[in-house]
Amino acid sequence: MASNSRAQFSSKFGFIMAAAGSAVGLGNIWGFPTQTASNGGAVFLFVYLAMICLLAFPMLVAELTIGRYGQSDPIGSIRAVWPKGRSGAILLGLAAMITASLILSFYSIVAGWLVGSFAGSLFDIVGLTTASDWVNSFGPARNLTLMVTFMLLTMHVVKNGVHDGIELWSTRLMPVLFGLFAILIIYIFTLDGATEGLKMYLIPDFSHLSPKLVVSAMGQAFFSLSLGVGTIMVYGSYLSKDINIPKTAAQVAAVDTGVAIGAGLLILPAMFVAKAQGVQIFSEAGELLSSDTLVFTVLPAMFDTMGGAGLVVSLIFFLLMIIAALTSSISMLEVPVACAIEELNHKRSTAVAWIGGLITLIAAVIVFNFGALFGLVIEITTVYGQPILGLCFALLVGWVWSRNKLLEEIKQGYPELEKGLFWKIWPLYVRIVCPVFMILVFFA
Ligand code: TRP
Repeated sequence: MASNSRAQFSSKFGFIMAAAGSAVGLGNIWGFPTQTASNGGAVFLFVYLAMICLLAFPMLVAELTIGRYGQSDPIGSIRAVWPKGRSGAILLGLAAMITASLILSFYSIVAGWLVGSFAGSLFDIVGLTTASDWVNSFGPARNLTLMVTFMLLTMHVVKNGVHDGIELWSTRLMPVLFGLFAILIIYIFTLDGATEGLKMYLIPDFSHLSPKLVVSAMGQAFFSLSLGVGTIMVYGSYLSKDINIPKTAAQVAAVDTGVAIGAGLLILPAMFVAKAQGVQIFSEAGELLSSDTLVFTVLPAMFDTMGGAGLVVSLIFFLLMIIAALTSSISMLEVPVACAIEELNHKRSTAVAWIGGLITLIAAVIVFNFGALFGLVIEITTVYGQPILGLCFALLVGWVWSRNKLLEEIKQGYPELEKGLFWKIWPLYVRIVCPVFMILVFFA
């Protein structure tokens, strides 16, 4: 696909579902509840919400706008707003690409666990208990098999391009996921122990508040909205000009935050339900045990309470979760793939094959050095990479880009922009407040 015939999302709904599909994923259902549970509950929730409104939402608008203006892969789009900084644009684009790829490498491992839980339920239903035990065990061979399966799925969707791949999947399946979530939340509150989790989730204990918590909440907000690696920029470049960017960004942020809050409402009560059933969740000292795999322990415990129906519900649940992870992973892979297509003139299928293959290799290295690398890669990419790149994007929009061009770009699709509150606050906000805020939080 040459850059003069760029693909586009075909409808506003399709775009919102694709962007929400990118945003909603393991970050919401695995990352957010785990972080909330290990950071004292309600306090983390409140700081997280503040971070979404004060920092992540304005940055979402910034990244979308760069992308739609540039109509190109992230390197090309950054170059468009920063014509004098040719090598700077390449460097920044490359850094974004590498961060996106590294995020995908650990993401595919965790998503593989979902594939394992799904296959486990399937094997249980047909009575293959040995196979079920294997996919639910935790070893390098099992992790590798599941990760490769998930990477192949991701590569398959991205190979089909924007319209028939990304948009089609997101539009059909995201709404089903939301519905099932709602049903499970209602169900969990019929079980013993659930209200204890609700208390932890909603009643703040401010003794947990610390600079580290604020940094974690910022990282989580960036991760959850897929910011700081060019994902949103690429999706913005497929966005048609008649769409109101600030409004659409607000809708995407709202859907994503709604799902995160919902996931907390399910997982934290489920933790205490599991505890009431004798599953060890906390250590003697009250620390969360094995936080990486927490969700994969408490959810099956919940499904067990449902008797025979539990197997079917768990099958549907993990299938939808795999799809949620897939609509996120494809958005990560799209970043380097778009760069290879538009900067190196590769065919989409070629780009997907070599880049996907490389990321699978990196993920395999992590699988075989899990203890040393898994946490490290997560930390480097989400605690450092995303916020630092986000800061660069804010500086680009706030200081490098001409304000007139910025105004013109957002005005398409939002003609009354200058009359509203948004334009009075946001430009200055991205220029000063966001960068200062990020630097402060970072060095705290
Ligand atoms: N936001 C997604 C989630 O919450 C993950 C994701 C997709 C992502 N694209 C990204 C995270 C780009 C960081 C950067 O699961």
